[in-house]
Amino acid sequence: MILIDRTKTYVKQTLEKDSSGHDWPHVRRVHHHALMIAQEEGGDLLVIELAALLHDIADWKFHRGDDSVGPHVAREWLQKMDVAPDVTEHVCSIIASMSFKGAKTISAKLTLEGQIVQDADRLDAIGAIGIARAFAYGGFSGQPMHDEKLLPKSHQSFEDYKSSKTTTINHFYEKLLLLKDRMNTATAKQLAEDRHEFLEVYLNRFLSEWS
Ligand code: ADP
Ligand code: NI
Repeated sequence: MILIDRTKTYVKQTLEKDSSGHDWPHVRRVHHHALMIAQEEGGDLLVIELAALLHDIADWKFHRGDDSVGPHVAREWLQKMDVAPDVTEHVCSIIASMSFKGAKTISAKLTLEGQIVQDADRLDAIGAIGIARAFAYGGFSGQPMHDEKLLPKSHQSFEDYKSSKTTTINHFYEKLLLLKDRMNTATAKQLAEDRHEFLEVYLNRFLSEWS
């Protein structure tokens, strides 16, 4: 489909130089996983594909924490492509509400399509790739890998989550290890099991080598 192909090219060009873990290969995997989950769970494929491809489109380096920029940039692209307004609105509302915002924050209610794209994104935050992305992000943002004196937090608000000082190892406790039980669909829950186990094995090994 021309719209999907052009969107892929646009996203690929935009995220090509990213080194924070929000790169084109991440988006390609999210797109692939979203299609895989949709095969089992259903949903509107056009909305799912567009939301998966555009979910990280806003430049992460400049807009981290401002969740209005992503939907805005996506809307501009979809309008330029003459996508139907209801599809555009649905895609943008998914992008606006799918992000993890802290362990104790209340999550927005997502449509089936939103749930599928969120699950696909979260699968890429766990397992071997998820670990690599966490350390890539940690290096990119300048936080330490680990610090025994800084304990993990269970954030009550998005403000607190995005502004808190943390380490990459703490990020495992603050987000990555929680994702398995927060998958929306049965298909993603199953895919998450194995990746979650690998996180635990890796963490134990990291902490034993550290000490
Ligand atoms: P979401 O996908 O829920 O919107 P983010 O975009 O914030 O979440 O996270 C994208 C990637 O960056 C994930 O792989 C995540 O684990 C990683 N990441 C985010 N914040 C941190 C952090 N403080 N330390 C290490 N990795 C992080
Ligand atoms: Ni993502």
